[in-house]
Amino acid sequence: MPTFRPVRIADVIPETADAHSLVLDAGFGYRPGQYLTVRTPAGARCYSLSSAPGVDAAPKVTVKRVPGGQVSNWICDHVHAGDVLDMSGPAGTFTPDSPDDDLLLLAGGSGITPIMGIIKSMRGGAWSLIYANRDADSIIFRDELDRLLPVTHWLDSERGVPTADALRELLTAYPDRLAFVCGPEAFVAVAEKALQLAGVPASRIRVERFELGSPESRPSADSAESRALVVSAESRALANSAEPGALADSAEPGALADSAGSRAAVEPGALANSAGSRAAVAEVELDGRTHVLPWAPGKRLLDVIIDAGLNPPYSCRQGQCGACACRLLSGEVALVNNEILEEEDFAEGYILACQAVPLTDSVTVTYQ
Ligand SMILES: Cc1cc2nc3c(=O)[nH]c(=O)nc-3n(C[C@H](O)[C@H](O)[C@H](O)COP(=O)(O)OP(=O)(O)OC[C@H]3O[C@@H](n4cnc5c(N)ncnc54)[C@H](O)[C@@H]3O)c2cc1C
Ligand code: FES
Repeated sequence: MPTFRPVRIADVIPETADAHSLVLDAGFGYRPGQYLTVRTPAGARCYSLSSAPGVDAAPKVTVKRVPGGQVSNWICDHVHAGDVLDMSGPAGTFTPDSPDDDLLLLAGGSGITPIMGIIKSMRGGAWSLIYANRDADSIIFRDELDRLLPVTHWLDSERGVPTADALRELLTAYPDRLAFVCGPEAFVAVAEKALQLAGVPASRIRVERFELGSPESRPSADSAESRALVVSAESRALANSAEPGALADSAEPGALADSAGSRAAVEPGALANSAGSRAAVAEVELDGRTHVLPWAPGKRLLDVIIDAGLNPPYSCRQGQCGACACRLLSGEVALVNNEILEEEDFAEGYILACQAVPLTDSVTVTYQ
């Protein structure tokens, strides 16, 4: 489980009318492009480090308001120098392999944050940035960026929202570069398409999504690309989900250590008859009350709880941050993706609500 620790805010820097940087009074190690999970009274969310280790004196995150967004607006409205917020991390793999790589960087809006950390950490190599924003006033780090590298600014106010064809025109000069793309989903989708049209192989494209598409557009437990783990309340163990029945026999305490090596990817379609298509009932203990919720086939537990009008903790919704972790009291679930929970977390019964689909008719979890 990610450990949250109190971090003092050393300074708050207004970057634009709707983006603030928080300079942190903390001395942890991190890699450029990584993110922290920040817990606030309005909820927990991930925010990327816009600073670079060994370059900036202190770590810094940069938060841009999302219209109607709970946490981004709370941070921009309420956080002042001297305040303390709980944070976990750093985490994430959106980081170059070498400070000498030749990079093509594409950022949309707040997506500049990890890209800024990456740019500042680079030593040799050639780097170019395409940075899309609504208008000139929305550009975060404008002067600093223009001093650091060649930037092609794309302003919606002048050219309209970028299309894949229009972006492709800007990319053809850099077919051999390693591409880093970051921003809201709509920008990431267009940028990925443009890179594909420009002939950049998928293996040379790294992506960080700040926002997920609709639940329907996310990988499902029975899709070919899914990588699922089975977690059972009885054994609190992991098993290769290609064998959904295997856990019933693995209840002895030693099973966890033995099964650690079995976090293998499922065979495509292995869950189609169980996790992907099963309806269930979720019993959820949250904020001192128990809620019994119908769990429609293919839906993630977190979406079931949110759609019921409840307010569970979450952040990335991608199995990366651990903010949605709850404890499985009965039943069995598959986790479509897990990049954060360790063996000892499963031993304590933790699962990720944002990645859980049911394998039994009834599943009970608690957030207490
Ligand atoms: C790994 C990771 C790193 C991130 N780093 C940063 C960062 O450095 N700076 C930053 O400002 N944000 C960053 N985000 C996004 C951030 O975690 C929140 O999603 C964002 O601040 C919105 O949260 P909210 O509570 O204000 O909005 P919510 O109340 O959660 O959402 C309101 C609506 O806004 C949409 N939405 C969510 N995020 C965005 C977005 N970025 N742009 C447009 N629409 C959005 C949602 O789909 C939803 O419909 C990161 C996200 C991830 C997963
Ligand atoms: S919300 Fe981040 S792992 Fe579930």
